[in-house]
Amino acid sequence: MTGIRRAAVIGAGFMGSMHAAILGRAPGCELAAIVDPNLDLARTVAARTSAAKTYASHEELLANEKLDLVSICTPDNLHLAPALAVAKQGVNLFIEKPIASTVEDARAIIAATEAAGVKLGVGYLLRFDPRYGRAKELIDEGKLGRPIHVYARRNSARTEGPKRYGGKLPLALHVTVHDVDLALWLLEGQEPVSVYAQQTDILLGKSGTQDSIAAIVRFSGGTVVNFESAWSLPSGTRHMIDARMEIIGEDGFVEVQCGDSGLHFADATRSQEIDTQHWPERGGAIGGDLREQLHAVLEWLDGADRPIASGRDALRSLELTLAMIRSAETGDVVRLG
Ligand SMILES: NC(=O)c1ccc[n+]([C@@H]2O[C@H](COP(=O)([O-])OP(=O)(O)OC[C@H]3O[C@@H](n4cnc5c(N)ncnc54)[C@H](O)[C@@H]3O)[C@@H](O)[C@H]2O)c1
Repeated sequence: MTGIRRAAVIGAGFMGSMHAAILGRAPGCELAAIVDPNLDLARTVAARTSAAKTYASHEELLANEKLDLVSICTPDNLHLAPALAVAKQGVNLFIEKPIASTVEDARAIIAATEAAGVKLGVGYLLRFDPRYGRAKELIDEGKLGRPIHVYARRNSARTEGPKRYGGKLPLALHVTVHDVDLALWLLEGQEPVSVYAQQTDILLGKSGTQDSIAAIVRFSGGTVVNFESAWSLPSGTRHMIDARMEIIGEDGFVEVQCGDSGLHFADATRSQEIDTQHWPERGGAIGGDLREQLHAVLEWLDGADRPIASGRDALRSLELTLAMIRSAETGDVVRLG
């Protein structure tokens, strides 16, 4: 530990309120401020955390606070402006995934952090799920031999994601991108060379989003990855997120099963799975992969080696996901590289 880190969160919505709650309790961290143009929301989140101040804009934040870390939790298409300003001020950055909604914005953020010599991490929290983490170690230790085929599924109910992000974000950029980051991370050393995808909008097209996407990606080492994401399961579905990954190698096989959180509640009117994986709340504190990741960010600022997705990792996952969307929209195989 190299002293107390002063942090701020920009964007006090769904993710930002959880970042604030975690950073506000993290050892070695002082949550200095929360920023949102909706000041009432910022104040509500501040009241639930240890945040000292609230601001309506990143300009006000940066004019008034001396910081070590800013976490950006604005909508994807609004990451750029605060990220450039924070980097210019010489402050380290953590940005929720995907790094941005366009390759141009992502490149500009990376260039700004490199020019300023500050750290840039991106919120691919599944790297901090012990199951994916151990799968990565098994591959790196050579237990599987050369990876042959990967299957990655991430399906959820139509009452969740599309309600919040429908009309704002393509399914692939919100959901599949998590598995794209994992695949690129697990298959370190290989580059994606081609992608073919198909998507459907039978149910959710009227809400401005897709029901499902299926994509097949060939990698430079010969591995093929089969991605499947849907956020169109009926509301009564058994799982919160039915996620699974299978990796077949020359010498071994790994299966990661995240389809069941292991905690289920039912009464006369409801039957629901409760999160134990991503950001479970207990006694007012948030845990899970998100806390593991944000604590790792603080350690990484102190020089520890932690598997935080870098800006360049996030640019790769963005490029591959956008290529998937292009293939699904045109019906063509998209060649990469
Ligand atoms: N890691 C994950 O699994 C995960 C899950 C959900 C969302 N996300 C990502 O987190 C980010 C935020 O998503 P969300 O669901 O919290 O969105 P949200 O809409 O709930 O919150 C965004 C907040 O940003 C605020 N905002 C907008 N412009 C701003 C600005 N210029 N300065 C400061 N605040 C501003 C809005 O007022 C809003 O309160 C997105 O990039 C999203 O893709 C990641």
